[in-house]
Amino acid sequence: RNIRPLVAGNWKMNGLKADLAIAVEVAKGYDTALKAVVDLAVCPPATLLYTTTAALIGSRIATGGQDCSSNAGGAFTGEVSAAMLADSGASFAIVGHSERRTLHGETNAIVKAKAQAARDALLVPIICVGETKDEREAGKALAIVKKQLRGSVPEDSTAAGLVIAYEPVWAIGTGLTPTAADVAEMHEAIRTELGRLLGKGVAASVRLLYGGSVKPSNAAELMNVAHVDGALVGGASLKAEDFLAIARACA
Ligand code: G3H
Repeated sequence: RNIRPLVAGNWKMNGLKADLAIAVEVAKGYDTALKAVVDLAVCPPATLLYTTTAALIGSRIATGGQDCSSNAGGAFTGEVSAAMLADSGASFAIVGHSERRTLHGETNAIVKAKAQAARDALLVPIICVGETKDEREAGKALAIVKKQLRGSVPEDSTAAGLVIAYEPVWAIGTGLTPTAADVAEMHEAIRTELGRLLGKGVAASVRLLYGGSVKPSNAAELMNVAHVDGALVGGASLKAEDFLAIARACA
């Protein structure tokens, strides 16, 4: 690998304070051997971000938010700004997750504004892209993902200031995964498209994560695909043992 991989856990709307134990358990298992090969991040619900970050001090495990407002602050009831995430200790902000795009009507333009807001707060946005089942079956997966990239990635992104997560919508929480060949084709296409948007030099070092039903049993195969630089893990990130097993698969 010429890019250090990142395995990020997206807890989604799961986690009460007792679940800090999951993060603590992950930290215990993040031993010297694992630290040498992979970066880890935990993205708990916003309510747990501060305490999770505090629980992980000294572990070298980063934290992230699962979304952020595109606005810097003000009269936006219920929203959480990127600066608030940063203030709670976050290093990352997931933006444009398919659940946000689908359930909250987030367009590429909104996702881009959120990515920009994350960067303004010195967070690294993890921008999610991915096609639906219908789009894949219609042979449109590559075109859809390229369009999402063109619409959602700020043009002045740097390699260290951007992570892309390819998450086929039909693979999220379903137990289904694309074939290694399909992941390889998509990740290569993503890197090429980023090259057009950001320049080849930048694109060559942007971390491209795969997400969608990653679990210990399929992690080694998926993490060994060319241009896969880690994983965005949903369900399996709620079990420390499984999350660590996925991290080990990046070695
Ligand atoms: O952000 C994570 C993804 O939506 C994947 O979720 O691992 O439960 O399929 P999953």
